[in-house]
Amino acid sequence: MLPIIKKFIIKIERQIVKILLSFRKDVVSFDPPPSGMNKETVLKKVAEVPFWWHSIDFGYGIVTPGHQGGIKHPTGTKNLLGNLQLPDDLRGKSVLDIGAWDGFFSFEAEKRGASRVLAIDNFYRDKLEHTGSQGFEIAKEILKSNVEFKKASVYDLSPEKFGMFDIVLFLGVFYHLRHPLLALEKVFSVTKEMLIMETHYDPYHDSKTPLAVFYENAEINNDPTTFWGFNKSCLLAVLRSVGFKNPEVIYRYADRIILKAYK
Ligand SMILES: C[S@@+](CC[C@H](N)C(=O)[O-])C[C@H]1O[C@@H](n2cnc3c(N)ncnc32)[C@H](O)[C@@H]1O
Repeated sequence: MLPIIKKFIIKIERQIVKILLSFRKDVVSFDPPPSGMNKETVLKKVAEVPFWWHSIDFGYGIVTPGHQGGIKHPTGTKNLLGNLQLPDDLRGKSVLDIGAWDGFFSFEAEKRGASRVLAIDNFYRDKLEHTGSQGFEIAKEILKSNVEFKKASVYDLSPEKFGMFDIVLFLGVFYHLRHPLLALEKVFSVTKEMLIMETHYDPYHDSKTPLAVFYENAEINNDPTTFWGFNKSCLLAVLRSVGFKNPEVIYRYADRIILKAYK
Protein backbone atom coordinates (compact mmCIF):
# COMPACT_ATOMS: atom_id res chain seq x y z
CA MET A 1 0.00 0.00 0.00
CA LEU A 2 1.27 3.48 -0.85
CA PRO A 3 2.67 5.23 2.28
CA ILE A 4 0.46 8.24 1.67
CA ILE A 5 -2.70 6.05 1.68
CA LYS A 6 -1.46 4.24 4.80
CA LYS A 7 -0.92 7.59 6.54
CA PHE A 8 -4.43 8.68 5.54
CA ILE A 9 -5.99 5.44 6.86
CA ILE A 10 -4.09 5.80 10.18
CA LYS A 11 -5.37 9.38 10.45
CA ILE A 12 -8.96 8.23 9.88
CA GLU A 13 -8.50 5.39 12.40
CA ARG A 14 -7.23 7.86 15.00
CA GLN A 15 -10.23 10.10 14.45
CA ILE A 16 -12.62 7.15 14.82
CA VAL A 17 -10.86 6.05 18.04
CA LYS A 18 -11.00 9.64 19.31
CA ILE A 19 -14.73 9.87 18.61
CA LEU A 20 -15.37 6.50 20.30
CA LEU A 21 -13.22 7.46 23.29
CA SER A 22 -14.99 10.77 23.67
CA PHE A 23 -17.97 8.79 24.97
CA ARG A 24 -15.82 7.33 27.74
CA LYS A 25 -15.22 9.07 31.07
CA ASP A 26 -11.54 8.10 31.18
CA VAL A 27 -10.81 9.32 27.65
CA VAL A 28 -7.09 9.49 26.83
CA SER A 29 -5.17 11.12 24.03
CA PHE A 30 -3.20 9.24 21.38
CA ASP A 31 -1.34 12.20 19.94
CA PRO A 32 2.33 12.83 20.86
CA PRO A 33 2.85 15.22 23.81
CA PRO A 34 3.70 18.89 23.08
CA SER A 35 7.45 18.15 23.47
CA GLY A 36 7.17 15.60 20.63
CA MET A 37 9.04 13.10 22.84
CA ASN A 38 8.77 9.57 21.48
CA LYS A 39 6.61 6.93 23.15
CA GLU A 40 9.49 4.82 24.53
CA THR A 41 11.10 7.84 26.21
CA VAL A 42 7.77 8.93 27.72
CA LEU A 43 7.21 5.43 29.11
CA LYS A 44 10.75 5.35 30.54
CA LYS A 45 10.33 8.72 32.21
CA VAL A 46 6.93 7.81 33.68
CA ALA A 47 8.46 4.65 35.15
CA GLU A 48 11.27 6.67 36.80
CA VAL A 49 8.78 8.16 39.26
CA PRO A 50 7.99 5.63 42.00
CA PHE A 51 4.74 7.30 43.08
CA TRP A 52 2.50 9.49 40.97
CA TRP A 53 -0.30 11.39 42.68
CA HIS A 54 -1.94 12.72 39.53
CA SER A 55 -3.17 10.83 36.49
CA ILE A 56 -1.62 12.90 33.71
CA ASP A 57 -2.31 12.18 30.06
CA PHE A 58 0.97 12.36 28.11
CA GLY A 59 -0.42 11.22 24.76
CA TYR A 60 0.15 7.88 22.99
CA GLY A 61 -2.54 6.57 25.38
CA ILE A 62 -0.07 6.90 28.28
CA VAL A 63 -1.60 8.10 31.56
CA THR A 64 0.49 8.23 34.73
CA PRO A 65 -0.66 5.75 37.40
CA GLY A 66 -1.91 8.44 39.78
CA HIS A 67 -3.10 7.51 43.26
CA GLN A 68 -5.57 10.38 43.52
CA GLY A 69 -9.00 8.87 44.08
CA GLY A 70 -7.35 5.43 44.48
CA ILE A 71 -5.14 3.56 42.05
CA LYS A 72 -8.12 1.47 40.94
CA HIS A 73 -9.93 4.64 39.88
CA PRO A 74 -7.60 6.25 37.35
CA THR A 75 -10.13 8.98 36.63
CA GLY A 76 -9.76 10.56 40.11
CA THR A 77 -7.76 13.54 38.89
CA LYS A 78 -10.02 14.16 35.90
CA ASN A 79 -13.16 13.88 38.02
CA LEU A 80 -11.82 16.48 40.43
CA LEU A 81 -11.02 18.79 37.52
CA GLY A 82 -14.58 18.36 36.27
CA ASN A 83 -15.99 19.44 39.62
CA LEU A 84 -13.81 22.55 40.11
CA GLN A 85 -15.66 24.85 37.69
CA LEU A 86 -12.27 26.07 36.51
CA PRO A 87 -13.00 28.58 33.72
CA ASP A 88 -12.38 27.12 30.25
CA ASP A 89 -10.74 30.33 29.13
CA LEU A 90 -7.91 31.51 31.34
CA ARG A 91 -6.21 33.68 28.74
CA GLY A 92 -4.34 36.55 30.36
CA LYS A 93 -4.93 35.24 33.89
CA SER A 94 -2.30 34.48 36.49
CA VAL A 95 -2.81 31.27 38.46
CA LEU A 96 -1.24 30.02 41.69
CA ASP A 97 -1.48 26.31 42.47
CA ILE A 98 -0.75 25.69 46.16
CA GLY A 99 0.35 22.16 47.04
CA ALA A 100 0.65 21.32 43.36
CA TRP A 101 2.41 17.93 43.75
CA ASP A 102 2.78 16.51 40.18
CA GLY A 103 1.24 19.70 38.81
CA PHE A 104 -1.78 18.41 36.87
CA PHE A 105 -3.90 21.46 37.74
CA SER A 106 -1.06 23.88 36.96
CA PHE A 107 -0.56 22.31 33.53
CA GLU A 108 -4.31 22.41 32.95
CA ALA A 109 -4.39 26.14 33.77
CA GLU A 110 -1.57 26.71 31.31
CA LYS A 111 -3.40 24.66 28.68
CA ARG A 112 -6.42 26.93 29.17
CA GLY A 113 -4.30 29.95 28.33
CA ALA A 114 -3.12 31.33 31.69
CA SER A 115 -0.31 33.83 31.14
CA ARG A 116 1.54 32.96 34.36
CA VAL A 117 1.23 29.78 36.39
CA LEU A 118 3.16 29.26 39.60
CA ALA A 119 3.10 25.91 41.36
CA ILE A 120 4.29 25.68 44.94
CA ASP A 121 4.67 22.72 47.27
CA ASN A 122 6.69 22.06 50.40
CA PHE A 123 6.65 18.25 50.02
CA TYR A 124 5.70 17.81 53.64
CA ARG A 125 5.17 14.11 53.03
CA ASP A 126 8.76 13.44 51.96
CA LYS A 127 8.93 10.71 54.55
CA LEU A 128 5.69 9.10 53.40
CA GLU A 129 4.99 8.45 49.72
CA HIS A 130 5.87 11.90 48.43
CA THR A 131 8.70 11.93 45.90
CA GLY A 132 9.36 15.66 45.84
CA SER A 133 9.19 17.50 42.55
CA GLN A 134 10.31 14.52 40.47
CA GLY A 135 6.91 13.91 38.90
CA PHE A 136 6.37 17.62 38.32
CA GLU A 137 9.74 18.07 36.59
CA ILE A 138 9.20 15.06 34.33
CA ALA A 139 5.66 16.13 33.45
CA LYS A 140 6.89 19.64 32.72
CA GLU A 141 9.51 18.29 30.32
CA ILE A 142 7.13 15.93 28.52
CA LEU A 143 4.45 18.62 28.25
CA LYS A 144 7.04 21.27 27.29
CA SER A 145 5.45 23.52 29.87
CA ASN A 146 6.42 26.96 31.14
CA VAL A 147 4.78 26.52 34.55
CA GLU A 148 7.11 27.87 37.25
CA PHE A 149 7.81 25.85 40.36
CA LYS A 150 8.97 26.97 43.78
CA LYS A 151 9.51 24.80 46.80
CA ALA A 152 7.60 26.81 49.38
CA SER A 153 4.94 26.48 52.03
CA VAL A 154 1.57 28.17 51.97
CA TYR A 155 2.77 29.97 55.11
CA ASP A 156 5.53 31.66 53.05
CA LEU A 157 3.08 33.35 50.68
CA SER A 158 3.08 37.15 50.47
CA PRO A 159 2.46 39.58 47.60
CA GLU A 160 6.00 40.95 48.06
CA LYS A 161 7.67 37.56 47.62
CA PHE A 162 5.35 35.86 45.13
CA GLY A 163 3.16 38.53 43.52
CA MET A 164 -0.64 38.45 43.24
CA PHE A 165 -2.71 35.91 41.29
CA ASP A 166 -6.08 36.26 39.57
CA ILE A 167 -7.00 32.69 40.44
CA VAL A 168 -5.67 30.67 43.35
CA LEU A 169 -6.09 26.90 43.48
CA PHE A 170 -5.90 25.50 47.00
CA LEU A 171 -6.71 21.85 46.46
CA GLY A 172 -6.32 19.03 48.94
CA VAL A 173 -4.12 21.03 51.31
CA PHE A 174 -6.24 22.80 53.95
CA TYR A 175 -6.81 19.79 56.24
CA HIS A 176 -3.08 19.03 56.26
CA LEU A 177 -2.34 22.33 57.97
CA ARG A 178 -1.84 22.75 61.69
CA HIS A 179 -2.52 26.48 61.38
CA PRO A 180 -5.40 26.72 58.92
CA LEU A 181 -6.44 30.32 59.60
CA LEU A 182 -2.90 31.62 59.31
CA ALA A 183 -2.63 29.78 55.99
CA LEU A 184 -5.92 31.24 54.73
CA GLU A 185 -4.74 34.75 55.60
CA LYS A 186 -1.64 34.14 53.46
CA VAL A 187 -3.79 32.77 50.63
CA PHE A 188 -6.05 35.83 50.84
CA SER A 189 -3.02 38.15 50.66
CA VAL A 190 -2.00 36.82 47.22
CA THR A 191 -5.49 36.41 45.68
CA LYS A 192 -6.60 39.07 43.22
CA GLU A 193 -9.92 37.65 42.01
CA MET A 194 -11.02 34.15 43.00
CA LEU A 195 -10.07 31.25 45.22
CA ILE A 196 -11.02 27.66 44.40
CA MET A 197 -10.54 25.47 47.45
CA GLU A 198 -11.00 21.71 47.71
CA THR A 199 -10.67 19.96 51.04
CA HIS A 200 -11.63 17.15 53.34
CA TYR A 201 -14.43 18.39 55.59
CA ASP A 202 -16.63 17.11 58.40
CA PRO A 203 -20.04 16.14 56.97
CA TYR A 204 -21.24 14.64 60.25
CA HIS A 205 -21.82 17.91 62.16
CA ASP A 206 -23.78 19.70 59.46
CA SER A 207 -25.17 22.50 61.63
CA LYS A 208 -25.48 26.24 61.25
CA THR A 209 -22.95 26.54 64.05
CA PRO A 210 -19.40 26.67 62.71
CA LEU A 211 -17.61 23.63 64.12
CA ALA A 212 -14.24 21.99 63.61
CA VAL A 213 -12.97 18.57 64.63
CA PHE A 214 -9.29 18.10 65.46
CA TYR A 215 -7.79 14.72 64.54
CA GLU A 216 -5.02 14.08 67.00
CA ASN A 217 -4.24 10.48 66.08
CA ALA A 218 -4.58 9.91 62.33
CA GLU A 219 -8.32 9.25 62.67
CA ILE A 220 -8.94 10.07 59.00
CA ASN A 221 -7.67 7.45 56.52
CA ASN A 222 -4.97 6.54 59.03
CA ASP A 223 -3.17 9.67 57.82
CA PRO A 224 -1.09 11.39 60.51
CA THR A 225 -1.01 14.55 58.38
CA THR A 226 -4.76 15.17 58.39
CA PHE A 227 -5.42 17.51 61.30
CA TRP A 228 -8.73 19.29 60.80
CA GLY A 229 -12.27 18.60 59.70
CA PHE A 230 -14.28 21.83 59.49
CA ASN A 231 -18.01 21.60 58.92
CA LYS A 232 -19.55 23.50 56.00
CA SER A 233 -20.62 26.51 58.09
CA CYS A 234 -17.15 26.73 59.58
CA LEU A 235 -15.45 26.69 56.17
CA LEU A 236 -17.70 29.50 54.94
CA ALA A 237 -17.13 31.42 58.19
CA VAL A 238 -13.34 31.20 58.13
CA LEU A 239 -13.24 32.25 54.48
CA ARG A 240 -15.35 35.32 55.33
CA SER A 241 -13.31 35.94 58.45
CA VAL A 242 -10.01 36.27 56.54
CA GLY A 243 -11.68 38.70 54.11
CA PHE A 244 -13.06 36.62 51.21
CA LYS A 245 -16.43 37.74 49.82
CA ASN A 246 -19.40 35.55 48.94
CA PRO A 247 -17.86 32.15 49.68
CA GLU A 248 -20.02 29.38 48.22
CA VAL A 249 -20.05 25.61 48.14
CA ILE A 250 -19.95 24.32 44.57
CA TYR A 251 -19.58 20.59 45.19
CA ARG A 252 -19.84 18.07 48.03
CA TYR A 253 -19.21 14.36 47.97
CA ALA A 254 -18.77 12.12 51.02
CA ASP A 255 -16.18 13.97 53.15
CA ARG A 256 -14.85 16.22 50.38
CA ILE A 257 -16.03 19.70 49.52
CA ILE A 258 -15.19 22.37 46.94
CA LEU A 259 -15.70 26.07 47.59
CA LYS A 260 -15.27 29.26 45.64
CA ALA A 261 -14.63 32.64 47.22
CA TYR A 262 -13.96 36.08 45.85
CA LYS A 263 -11.78 39.08 46.68
C1 LIG B 1 -3.42 15.63 48.97
S1 LIG B 1 -2.13 16.42 48.08
C2 LIG B 1 -3.05 17.41 46.93
C3 LIG B 1 -2.30 17.63 45.64
C4 LIG B 1 -3.04 18.50 44.62
N1 LIG B 1 -3.23 19.86 45.05
C5 LIG B 1 -4.37 17.88 44.28
O1 LIG B 1 -5.41 18.34 44.79
O2 LIG B 1 -4.41 16.92 43.54
C6 LIG B 1 -1.53 17.64 49.22
C7 LIG B 1 -0.34 18.44 48.70
O3 LIG B 1 -0.18 19.60 49.49
C8 LIG B 1 1.19 19.77 49.81
N2 LIG B 1 1.29 20.53 51.05
C9 LIG B 1 0.99 20.14 52.31
N3 LIG B 1 1.24 21.10 53.19
C10 LIG B 1 1.68 22.17 52.47
C11 LIG B 1 2.10 23.47 52.82
N4 LIG B 1 2.14 23.87 54.08
N5 LIG B 1 2.48 24.28 51.84
C12 LIG B 1 2.47 23.88 50.54
N6 LIG B 1 2.08 22.64 50.15
C13 LIG B 1 1.71 21.79 51.11
C14 LIG B 1 1.72 18.34 49.90
O4 LIG B 1 3.12 18.26 49.79
C15 LIG B 1 0.99 17.67 48.77
O5 LIG B 1 1.68 17.76 47.56
